[in-house]
Amino acid sequence: MLKGRNLIDPSDLSMEEIDEIMGLTREIVNNPKEFAHVCDGMLLGSLFYEPSTRTRLSFEAAMLRLGGKVVGFSEPGSSSVQKGESLNDTLRTVGAYTDIIVMRHPKEGAPKLGADLCPVPLINAGDGGHQHPTQTLTDLYTILESKGSLDNLVLGFCGDLQFGRTVHSLIKAMSRYKNVKFVLISPVELEVPEYIKTEILDKNEVEYIEVERLEDVIDTLDILYMTRVQKERFFNEVDYIRLKDSYILDLKKLEKAKKDLAILHPLPRVNEIKVEVDSDPRAKYFKQVKNGMFVRMALIAKLLGVK
Ligand code: NCD
Repeated sequence: MLKGRNLIDPSDLSMEEIDEIMGLTREIVNNPKEFAHVCDGMLLGSLFYEPSTRTRLSFEAAMLRLGGKVVGFSEPGSSSVQKGESLNDTLRTVGAYTDIIVMRHPKEGAPKLGADLCPVPLINAGDGGHQHPTQTLTDLYTILESKGSLDNLVLGFCGDLQFGRTVHSLIKAMSRYKNVKFVLISPVELEVPEYIKTEILDKNEVEYIEVERLEDVIDTLDILYMTRVQKERFFNEVDYIRLKDSYILDLKKLEKAKKDLAILHPLPRVNEIKVEVDSDPRAKYFKQVKNGMFVRMALIAKLLGVK
């Protein structure tokens, strides 16, 4: 039963519950009109303490398309946060007005701490460099759509694997599927954090390799998950400038890739995928954007218990 639950970390959902959300997403994609009023009279609170385009607007669009309404802020400077209000008090307050809350926060672990006092279901829309479970649901749906299964895949993650929360969440979620292998492509300085290796990969006996050059492994991949270098999480500008152009995917590099490779990117893209790649049939990132809205419709409906 998903009704009334929070979604803070991808492992809050069992594999069966993920299947349920994927199934409902498919139903919504095929027949959106049938869902146009399931949240009539309900309110989503949308609290974004960090910038966002896709996540915030896809949540808003999702709630509106379900018949619900949205209140909130995208700029904490315009709320009582500016006066020094604690996160818990903000969540209790917004929870008193709404039926469900989505929150993005720069501090790792903030949604987990806030969830205890929040009177309505709380969805983590990204906490610092930690986790981003609803992007993961979007990614899983896009992989499923492209490959027909979440088992037996070689997934390449490329770019900033140290700070990229979408990478951490997707590795966590995909580690549960059968015969999945990871190819982790990054400069040494931006490798996945140690806890991902010990607590997720090693613990679940998942096969993985770490490499620095995309060209050396691109032909082995079923999925290529590109990411931007997360400028805002760097401690100094010099390191950012040194690492920011580490990987740039172009059509030349893709010549060696499988014909049925699926290229994903959570977006925003800076320069790590050349625009020339967008028209290649293997580019799935704009499809992924649209899937994000439908997945969030399914998630909201499930947590509110209306479907
Ligand atoms: C990502 C995020 O915010 O973590 N964007 C998103 O939600 N689609 C990725 C990023 O900012 O690079």
